[in-house]
Amino acid sequence: MAQSSPPGSETTARFAHITGWGKALPEQVMTNDDIAAFVETNDDWIFTRTGIRQRHIAHEAESTATLAYNAARQALEVADILPTDLDMIIVATSTAEHIFPSTASQVQDWLNASEAGAFDLSAACSGFVYGLQLAADSIRAGSTDAALVIGAETMSRIIDWTDRSTCILFGDGAGAVVLRASDTPGGVLSSVLRSDGAGGDLLAVPSVGSIDAKESPVGVNGNQLYKISMAGGEVFKFATRVVSESIEQACRLARIQVEDIDLVIPHQANRRILQAAARKLGIDLAKFMSNVERYGNTSAASIPIALCEAIEQRRIQSRDHIALVGFGGGLTWASMIIRWGVPKPSEQHGSLIKRQQRHVQYRLARLRRLRRRMARRLQSSGD
Ligand code: COA
Repeated sequence: MAQSSPPGSETTARFAHITGWGKALPEQVMTNDDIAAFVETNDDWIFTRTGIRQRHIAHEAESTATLAYNAARQALEVADILPTDLDMIIVATSTAEHIFPSTASQVQDWLNASEAGAFDLSAACSGFVYGLQLAADSIRAGSTDAALVIGAETMSRIIDWTDRSTCILFGDGAGAVVLRASDTPGGVLSSVLRSDGAGGDLLAVPSVGSIDAKESPVGVNGNQLYKISMAGGEVFKFATRVVSESIEQACRLARIQVEDIDLVIPHQANRRILQAAARKLGIDLAKFMSNVERYGNTSAASIPIALCEAIEQRRIQSRDHIALVGFGGGLTWASMIIRWGVPKPSEQHGSLIKRQQRHVQYRLARLRRLRRRMARRLQSSGD
């Protein structure tokens, strides 16, 4: 486990590289036609306005945490490290099952990542890029060697399924990456994290602490507690502005030109937002990764899911410049430039012994949980 160095001690340059990735999507698919069966809409309207054809919806036995866990296991497999090697687990989410314990703590327990700190991060659809930046900074500062950053959501649980202007947009899923310290230059080069809280009411989910909720079960803007409310047109204008602006800023910080970007992996909200951003940036739309057609908007999960698919499709090569850009509730937005520095998946050989060790650790996690709970019970009955 990494330790902070005392001030003034000798340090060599450290870089933060993505070395593992994984994704998890519920099996159940809901098409636009399925939605048209219970609200007044149709496939043509939804596809023309958003680029979405279908989304995945969690089964009742699935949760944000189970999706996060499944994506995390894949990421550890690709990175070929043990859960006990992790120093930090961050889950970016707006759909945690609990205010606390955090989703990250649930995942930490299930993985048996006994050396890791764990917390959830709330920055809506920008959350994954926020989390990656925090983890990269911690790695570069020397206090973390290996971090797991996850974006995971069950948006289906906070959708008002009678509101046709929002229920067509969202889906469920999770994506995860392992970020590791390395002395090879590259990895996370720059980032821009921003917020404009004055626009908070444009995209909101009133929750347990909402002042309005003390009087009635109706939250901000007259919307239901725990359900999404959105001013679609305003959010659209905000998104097209910040995607191009923040990518330009992140490029300047990374000392590269916008033309040097090989692939943009944007938050998958709406294909028209990406078309407008590509026009503004003067980047060919073909350089924008897009899978919104199959998954809809999975909020904090959308960027890591799209990153995984870009890797699977061999759209990322060593030394490519990748731009990540997220935007959403808060309002928040975030851009990041990464110089890709890990071998292509085909060149990676997971070690058999480590794979077996990981499986043993997952099994042990359950036993460890039972043992700890039992010990706590015995202790309190003896007090
Ligand atoms: N099916 C059919 N008609 C619909 C509809 C649906 N699912 N949802 C809304 N409409 C209707 C409206 O009621 C309105 O009808 P009216 O003119 O009779 O009042 C009409 O379509 C136009 O509505 P409008 O809201 O102006 O549509 P739009 O072109 O702005 O598209 C969004 C709506 C939501 C697709 C678009 O605003 C959007 O994508 N915004 C960004 C949302 C987003 O990405 N949020 C997440 C960011 S993280």
